[in-house]
Amino acid sequence: MLKTGDNLDTPDKKRSYNEQLFTEVAPRYDFITSALSLWQDASWKRDLIAALPALEKPFCVDLACGTGDITLLLARKYTEGNIVGLDVTEPMLAIARAHARDFHPNVQFVKQDMGCLSFPPESADIVTGGYALRNAPDLATTVDEIHKVLKPGGVAAFLDFSKPANRFAQNVEYWILKIWGSLWGILLHRNHEIYAYIAESLRHFPDRGKLRALFRDKGFTLVTSKRYFFGVIEVLVIRKVKE
Ligand SMILES: C[S@@+](CC[C@H](N)C(=O)[O-])C[C@H]1O[C@@H](n2cnc3c(N)ncnc32)[C@H](O)[C@@H]1O
Repeated sequence: MLKTGDNLDTPDKKRSYNEQLFTEVAPRYDFITSALSLWQDASWKRDLIAALPALEKPFCVDLACGTGDITLLLARKYTEGNIVGLDVTEPMLAIARAHARDFHPNVQFVKQDMGCLSFPPESADIVTGGYALRNAPDLATTVDEIHKVLKPGGVAAFLDFSKPANRFAQNVEYWILKIWGSLWGILLHRNHEIYAYIAESLRHFPDRGKLRALFRDKGFTLVTSKRYFFGVIEVLVIRKVKE
């Protein structure tokens, strides 16, 4: 049975924990993501795509693509583009490939770690990530990788939980997510730990001010931010500064 415990304390352990976790979750991922978000997830993802610039033939990289929702929305927005979705969990990628089958020739799904991207430097116009950065084996390294592969002026957009700076608000957010996740874990897997991971991963994640500071220090500027559910969820759009 998967337990969070101390499994997130090194990049290697976190990567391997995530791979095991999402292998177990994969067949129910689409349902549980909708349910956990009270059926709002699809509309947040559409908002993320709407916030991206109009481009003719962009190269887009969707980090931690999971079952491919954002990757396929990118493919629909940029019909002439070249779109790659990457993830470390094969069963998630298999579902993504099945969703894309036949009608998205401009999309590929590859097994790759977001902490070590294989694309040429300054090759991507757009990088996206839905609930991706919280799962990064090491956040600073992943942000460096995003910076490396984006063209100057390229845009990155992320949908994820957003952590307040205030300790009391952090605890409220943590316990709501822990209880809500545990409930669905028991219902679907008889394992209260499985979605409680969301709350645990947020513990190790910077608050929204520190996240912005990290992006700024790594060479990005803020484009837009939109928050949902009393600020718990955020779509954050940033741009790589042209030197
Ligand atoms: C919560 S799911 C998000 C899926 C999708 N982006 C979405 O918005 O629904 C997180 C995904 O991150 C993937 N993941 C975890 N660690 C990763 C890593 N180091 N590199 C790439 N993907 C990773 C998992 O396999 C899982 O598919």
